[in-house]
Amino acid sequence: MVKDIPQAITIDGPAGAGKSTVARELARRLGVFYLDTGAMYRALTLKAVRLGLNLEDASGLVDLARRTRIRLENHHSGTKVLLDGEDVSEAIRSPEVTNKTFYIARAGGVREIMVGWQREIGARQSIVIEGRDVGTVVFPEAARKFYLDADFEVRARRRIKELREKGKQVDEDSLKRELQERDHKDFTRAVGPLKVADDAVVIDTTPLTVDGTVDEILKHIKNGA
Ligand code: C5P
Repeated sequence: MVKDIPQAITIDGPAGAGKSTVARELARRLGVFYLDTGAMYRALTLKAVRLGLNLEDASGLVDLARRTRIRLENHHSGTKVLLDGEDVSEAIRSPEVTNKTFYIARAGGVREIMVGWQREIGARQSIVIEGRDVGTVVFPEAARKFYLDADFEVRARRRIKELREKGKQVDEDSLKRELQERDHKDFTRAVGPLKVADDAVVIDTTPLTVDGTVDEILKHIKNGA
């Protein structure tokens, strides 16, 4: 990568396709900042839920976003998410936040604010950014775009494993139902829906390990993807 011009490598895809682990490892190997945009949507959802706001009220959510500070810090142990200075890294992964984030994600005014924050971070440094709209809306000019996908069953299994490793109880059927619903909402929302950018390289991670996926991405980058 060119050292003095900040550049963005974008990774989009559905939940469970491996984006977070792959993006974090790719950023580590390249020595650039890792930006988890989903964590921003989750953090604002957490704040709205805690305040008991009406999640259907888009303009109330925009006001909320305007008076919120979300900061992401990358550490060896993972990404620390600071919501108005409070560490909410664990709290934003709760099932309630996971299932209510779509209210925040479908509010066009909120997305504009989030996209602005993400562009500011990308203007300061080179980044690997992952989410649903990062190659299509946030950085449409990015030279390196990837879209990770995987079979539904495999994505569900990865989520189940991840939660069990954290000691969480998982009901497999409801997790699959929720994942399906989240996919549907991500693909069909009017603003910033999940879709493959025309110039993105699509990688099916079904048969791949995290390192295998990162190697594949690096191969494309080297070859000028
Ligand atoms: O990536 P993660 O699963 O943490 O994202 C949580 C939710 O945030 C997604 O289901 C999606 O609704 C929303 N999101 C979004 N745009 C992004 C990243 C996440 O709408 N760029």
